[in-house]
Amino acid sequence: MTTKPNEAPVLVTGVTRGIGKAIAVRLLTNGYHVVGVYNKSDDDAAKLLKVHKNLRIVKADLTKRAATRNLIKELSTTKLQAIVNNAGLIDFETFDSFDERIWDKTIELNITAPLLLSTGLAKNLSKGSSIVNIASTDGLTGSFASMSYSASKAALINLTKSLSNNLGPRGIRVNAVAPGWINTGMATPASHEASSLTPLGRNGTPDEVAKLVEFLISDNASFITGSTYVVDGGYTNVDYIMKKEAAGGI
Ligand SMILES: NC(=O)c1ccc[n+]([C@@H]2O[C@H](COP(=O)([O-])OP(=O)(O)OC[C@H]3O[C@@H](n4cnc5c(N)ncnc54)[C@H](OP(=O)(O)O)[C@@H]3O)[C@@H](O)[C@H]2O)c1
Repeated sequence: MTTKPNEAPVLVTGVTRGIGKAIAVRLLTNGYHVVGVYNKSDDDAAKLLKVHKNLRIVKADLTKRAATRNLIKELSTTKLQAIVNNAGLIDFETFDSFDERIWDKTIELNITAPLLLSTGLAKNLSKGSSIVNIASTDGLTGSFASMSYSASKAALINLTKSLSNNLGPRGIRVNAVAPGWINTGMATPASHEASSLTPLGRNGTPDEVAKLVEFLISDNASFITGSTYVVDGGYTNVDYIMKKEAAGGI
C-alpha cells in the first residue's frame, strides 16, 4: 500500500494555472514527485520547473486525440502513484446558435482525455494508488450557456464511478472532486457575485481544492472510492426562495 509520497510521480494535468497548479505545488512541497501536463503557458511551466526539482513537465494539447495518445506512450514505462485529471475548459455558447465545435473540444478535453489517460495508464498504477477527476458542481445542475461543459462534468462524475468499479479489484481507488466557485483564470466577472450567495461568504481558493486532492490520493482515504466530493462553501445547498422566505420572517 502507498502510505506516503514515494518516488513514483503523480500525473497532474493542467499544472500551469489555477487549481492544477495549486495541486502540483502542494504535492511537490509535501515531498511528492509530479509529472505535470500543460498546453500553452510556457513561461509558467518554466517558472515551476525552476523552483521544483521533483517536477517533470510535458507539453500536450489534450483536446487533440493524437497528443493524448502520445502522452500515454511517453509515460508507458513510468510507474505512477496517482493520476489527477484536472485540465479542463469552459467555452460559452448561445443556445440558438449552438456550435458543435465547442461541444467536441470540451468533451475531448474534459471527459475523453481523463478516460483515455485512466485506461491507458492504469497498468502504471499499483495497489494503493488512485485517480482523482476534477469535475464541477456544474455537473450536478443544468446549464444555460455552457451546456457542453456541464454535460462533460456530469459524465466525468459518472465515469468516476465506472472506473472505480473496474479498478477497485486491483486496489486502485477513483474519486471525483466537484469544486464550486473557485477564484482562478476560469472565473468570469459573474462568478465574483457568488461570494455573497455562498454560506461561507466567499469563493474558494485553488489550494482548498488541492488539500482535498492530497487527502484523496493518500492512504488516509484508503476506503474511499467512486465518490464525488463537493467543495463549494455550501453554495449548492442553498434554495434562494427559502432564503428569501426566511428573510421575510415566514
Ligand atoms: N475555477 C473554478 O471555479 C472551477 C470550478 C469547478 C471546476 N473547475 C475545474 O477545475 C479544473 C481546473 O480549472 P481552473 O479554474 O484551474 O482552470 P484554468 O485556471 O483555466 O487552468 C487550466 C489549466 O488546464 C490547462 N489546459 C487547458 N487546456 C488544455 C489542453 N487543451 N491541454 C492540456 N492542458 C490544458 C491549462 O494549461 P495552459 O496554461 O498551458 O493553457 C491550465 O494549466 C478544470 O477541470 C475545471 O473545469 C474549476
